Amino acid sequence: MFAAYTELQNAQAVKEFLVKKQVVHPDFLPLKELGYIYFPITKKMAVPKAKVVQTKITFPPREKPRTVDDLLKNKLSKEELELLPRSQEIVGHILILEIPEELTSKEKLIAEAYLNINRQIDTVVRKEGIHSGEFRTRTVRILAGKKSKETVHKESGVDIKLHLEKTYFSARSGNERLRITKMIKPGEDVLVMFSGAAPYPLVFARNSDARQIYGIELNPLAHAYAHENIHLNRLEHKITLHNGNVLTILPKLKRKFDRIAMPLPKTGEDFLPIALSKVKPKGIIHLYSFLDEKDIQLYAQKIKDIARRSNHPVRVLRSVQCGQFSPGTFRVCFDLKVLE
Ligand SMILES: C[S@@+](CC[C@H](N)C(=O)[O-])C[C@H]1O[C@@H](n2cnc3c(N)ncnc32)[C@H](O)[C@@H]1O
Repeated sequence: MFAAYTELQNAQAVKEFLVKKQVVHPDFLPLKELGYIYFPITKKMAVPKAKVVQTKITFPPREKPRTVDDLLKNKLSKEELELLPRSQEIVGHILILEIPEELTSKEKLIAEAYLNINRQIDTVVRKEGIHSGEFRTRTVRILAGKKSKETVHKESGVDIKLHLEKTYFSARSGNERLRITKMIKPGEDVLVMFSGAAPYPLVFARNSDARQIYGIELNPLAHAYAHENIHLNRLEHKITLHNGNVLTILPKLKRKFDRIAMPLPKTGEDFLPIALSKVKPKGIIHLYSFLDEKDIQLYAQKIKDIARRSNHPVRVLRSVQCGQFSPGTFRVCFDLKVLE
């Protein structure tokens, strides 16, 4: 290893020079010996007021804080450390933390620690409530880092620009988007009801050979982000977006679809009849719901009953648990094949 050594009175000047040149060794600390100080460095170079030598000195290792627990162990009690949030969601460059009430007085310290260890993030926010209301939006509070709630999330080859409070978005649904993408056959026309900032249309358009993807979204701000996103990803030729209520927009579209995705788990089934009226014979519908595991079979029967009453009977190809809403309650997707 190389080291720059100098008399103690030059230590500060030499250190500043080495930092500026970015040659300070990241793994070891300087060592003082017999009136001299030795700085471990990463490459051989001329250093003013110091001599540079190759050395076999054993330098003390630089202890690196590697975990949030390491960084907080002197600032939080043992009981408080145990309450630290373990599950996190990262959307773009923003980390969303669920901080328990008991840690509110330490929330800034905790947020700074997460910011410190994770180079991928530049903002830490605290989740203030669950997605709610017609637009399924939520509130978050900035605790550390850049003062912005807007970010660009990268997923499956697309950039999704969004605002955490103005539009719904879940990074955790990324795998589910890909699962559906893999089922899309070349030439399909696909409709995404409730398209939000357009994560489903973007991922489908980029990763499948669908002919055209259509999206319908009620929230004007989410729709505006969706529009920006199709330009950002140069997918204007494959995605068509509509702003408004599915119930009023869809009857005006004089076409039917090979596949319809319905990512609105709270009330999705209310929109099943209109989806059935717009899907081609033998087409596929992906219907979502939040369900307790024990209720999945019952719900599948309910779907079949709604479909029969709409004169478009369906077969439930499969039900897939693709996320968790709360302990014991899952986000379940029913893949439905329309029989007539
Ligand atoms: C759970 S979010 C899903 C958004 C998006 N697909 C995603 O995964 O990020 C449901 C979306 O449906 C929209 N929405 C609710 N009711 C609607 C309706 N009747 N017509 C069109 N969009 C609606 C909400 O504004 C919200 O953006």
